[in-house]
Amino acid sequence: MENLKTEFAGLKLRNPIIIGSCGRTAKAQNNKILEDAGAGAIVLKSMFEENILMQVQGMSDDSFHTEAADYMHGYLRSNMLQEYLELIRASKRMCTIPIIASINCYSAGEWADFASQIEQAGADALELNVMSIRTSKDYRDGEFEQEHIDILSSVRKSVRIPIIVKLGSNLSNPVSLAERLHAYGAAGVVLFNRFYQTDIDIEKMEYASGSVFSNESDLCTPLRWAGIVSASVRNLDVAVSGGVHDGAAVIKSILAGASAVEVCSAIYLNGEKWIGDALEQVSQWQERHGFGSVSEYCGRMNAGTAENASRLERTQFLKYFEMHR
Ligand SMILES: Cc1cc2nc3c(=O)[nH]c(=O)nc-3n(C[C@H](O)[C@H](O)[C@H](O)COP(=O)(O)O)c2cc1C
Repeated sequence: MENLKTEFAGLKLRNPIIIGSCGRTAKAQNNKILEDAGAGAIVLKSMFEENILMQVQGMSDDSFHTEAADYMHGYLRSNMLQEYLELIRASKRMCTIPIIASINCYSAGEWADFASQIEQAGADALELNVMSIRTSKDYRDGEFEQEHIDILSSVRKSVRIPIIVKLGSNLSNPVSLAERLHAYGAAGVVLFNRFYQTDIDIEKMEYASGSVFSNESDLCTPLRWAGIVSASVRNLDVAVSGGVHDGAAVIKSILAGASAVEVCSAIYLNGEKWIGDALEQVSQWQERHGFGSVSEYCGRMNAGTAENASRLERTQFLKYFEMHR
């Protein structure tokens, strides 16, 4: 499928379907299966900052004197990091498609040093997932956005591989943040990460977990922002993540301005065979519409024209609700 080639964040991909960071990408053998099924690239399961801290706190005994506790902390942390580096090395040995490492961090911390080890282990790019929900009433506008910049800046200094920033959908203005991230050296943004979903069991009156997986309607939000960001922030690649459940969703994302998509739920729900089916749909659509490559229609429907901008922005809300009296 030559005509499905694309580029995202400086990576040349054989097609736009990237497997997003999730449990399925935590083992090199699985990554090989995903590659064989047609994936364009793989984002490894994230290394979570909280996980390291929890393991370190959980396994070290308070009765240790400081020196021993420090040693234990260092040992546990380094062990987890080594396991992650081995996942990168093994995935690179088994796969030929780009392997993107992923760090889920909420502070600039020590990630710069680790990022450099990730690069040395052979990762083709690094995705930073800065996910957090701000709830403090003392929060000052812009603090969260600044944290993205601080984390990116500290990591950027220590690696040469492309850095991708995966954003949450809880930003007041993803466009201005994307613009700043680009200025600070990000090669791409992913719109958006999926938050842990909270639900309530009304019989037990207890909190429960909402659906882990997305559905088709979740595509609307990343689609809108891909359309707006790709029109405003030139030279910053965009990937859509959230609600891509068939080939049509891949096509919509590209028309909106994404050069790739990151998919997880559809793989969990349908197995890796989904990749080939979705690619076949994209390929047939391209042929039907006379497109010889992804770049020919990438961003064709983004907010670059006044008409599309009005569709993607607020003015349409009035019409929409008028139609549903
Ligand atoms: C089971 C599961 C585990 C996930 N783990 C991670 C993770 O470790 N790091 C991350 O950045 N995103 C993680 N995600 C989010 C996905 O990478 C993706 O952005 C999100 O699920 C939206 O895509 P989808 O609609 O195709 O599922 C996870 C998603 C699922 C379903």
